[in-house]
Amino acid sequence: MVVVGAAALLLNGAHAEQYNVGGDSGWILNVNYTAWAEKYEYLTGDSLLFKYISPRHSVLQVTKEDYEECKTSNALFSDDKGDTTFPLTTEGQYWFICGVNDHCSQGMKFTINVLSSTAIAPSYGPSTPDSASSIINPIHLLSFLLFLLPLVFFVF
Ligand SMILES: *[C@@H]1O[C@H](CO)[C@@H](O)[C@H](O)[C@H]1NC(C)=O
Repeated sequence: MVVVGAAALLLNGAHAEQYNVGGDSGWILNVNYTAWAEKYEYLTGDSLLFKYISPRHSVLQVTKEDYEECKTSNALFSDDKGDTTFPLTTEGQYWFICGVNDHCSQGMKFTINVLSSTAIAPSYGPSTPDSASSIINPIHLLSFLLFLLPLVFFVF
């Protein structure tokens, strides 16, 4: 158990991503945000950056029911000041919509599931947009192996 815990700590150190919502397009009309959101795995400690010009769009975090009905009056979080950073502090499902006019029903909406970053076996590869993590990983693996070595001697 100690070994597993140490491995999880080492792996988690590499992961705190900021995801630019919509990629190069940002937070605008005519982007399929469902398709965008499905590309990544979100962990606690990560954050979302909504890039838009105020007051053309806004960012509302809403309940599942309000998401489905594009209801803007009950937002759990809202911001329309432009370029909104949303930290993913707790695990669970998040629903986001644009609160301006009928942008939500036109498709400015998506949902993500945020997993705990302390969970075992985070996945890498396509879920990390930059290459920094893949450079760091072998180092973490190496330090993990070095950590294991004395344990092996200790046991036998
Ligand atoms: C958006 O992308 C999702 C996932 O690829 C797809 O299921 C859906 O039909 C797309 N929506 C539109 C409006 O194209």
